Amino acid sequence: MQVIEDPTAFQQTCRSAGRVVLVPTMGALHEGHLALIRRAREVAAGEGTVAVSIFVNPIQFDRPGDLAAYPKPLEADLAACEKEGADLVLVPKDGAMYAADRSISITESLLSKHLCGATRPGHFDGVCTVVLKLFLLSHATAAVFGEKDFQQLAVIRRMVRDLNVPIDIIGHPTIRESDGLAMSSRNVRLLPEHRRDAPRLRQALIAARDLLPYGERSAATFVETARRHLTASPFFRVDYLEVVDAETLQPVAAIQRPAVLALAGFYGEVRLIDHIGLHP
Ligand code: PAJ
Repeated sequence: MQVIEDPTAFQQTCRSAGRVVLVPTMGALHEGHLALIRRAREVAAGEGTVAVSIFVNPIQFDRPGDLAAYPKPLEADLAACEKEGADLVLVPKDGAMYAADRSISITESLLSKHLCGATRPGHFDGVCTVVLKLFLLSHATAAVFGEKDFQQLAVIRRMVRDLNVPIDIIGHPTIRESDGLAMSSRNVRLLPEHRRDAPRLRQALIAARDLLPYGERSAATFVETARRHLTASPFFRVDYLEVVDAETLQPVAAIQRPAVLALAGFYGEVRLIDHIGLHP
């Protein structure tokens, strides 16, 4: 496995590497990330190259405290990449990804209007900009993303469609802890009492989804059911709780097509997200 700090050197290496499958990450790797790397290894097969990027992208953070607190266990991350069969890892040096006077960025203006896009201004523009740069740097023909960040996945698919980016986007199901909490690099920052309370997020979503077989179709009822579970917590602060169309991510009042119940909120300063599909 080769670790490269200079984006230009990474681009040159990838150009002569043949078929590249990319897994973009911000590091602090957990089982969710490792599942994506294993999937990339399968897709690349024996002869292809699996490239992982580890870059805490400053332009997608809306809260400076969240950026500063982002964990950076680089040695453990590199060992995990090696173990899962990555061939190349890009770990850009500070300042190497963005020119000080950069003036071009990618803007998504529909799918990012709601959910995380509404409460984290500029977040998805930062994500699109870095992801497109990583696609161009890696020359990847395929890239693997987690469904955990389903709005991010939808926005990236839309960018690839609208800009004709020559890459296959592969979605991977959410990997969870045994108590149902979606794995996240932010989970390690939860206080013990918050961590014990956190399975509530998944339980709230399941309680709402379980109304579907009884014929419930009203978005307001799904939201209220989940909200009751969440507000019973002495710790959790809801940021949003919304039912959106699974494809357009626009709010819906009634479920007629596949939809998603999505939530975000805080334990202290730690922001967590989760979602569940509502398929009529
Ligand atoms: P990060 O949060 O590190 O996540 C990297 C990838 O891992 C994303 O595709 C995310 O959806 C996936 N992932 C995270 N937790 C997961 C879980 N529990 N199960 C399955 N997949 C999971 O997402 C980002 O970084 C950044 O926004 C990035 C795309 C790298 C751009 O900076």
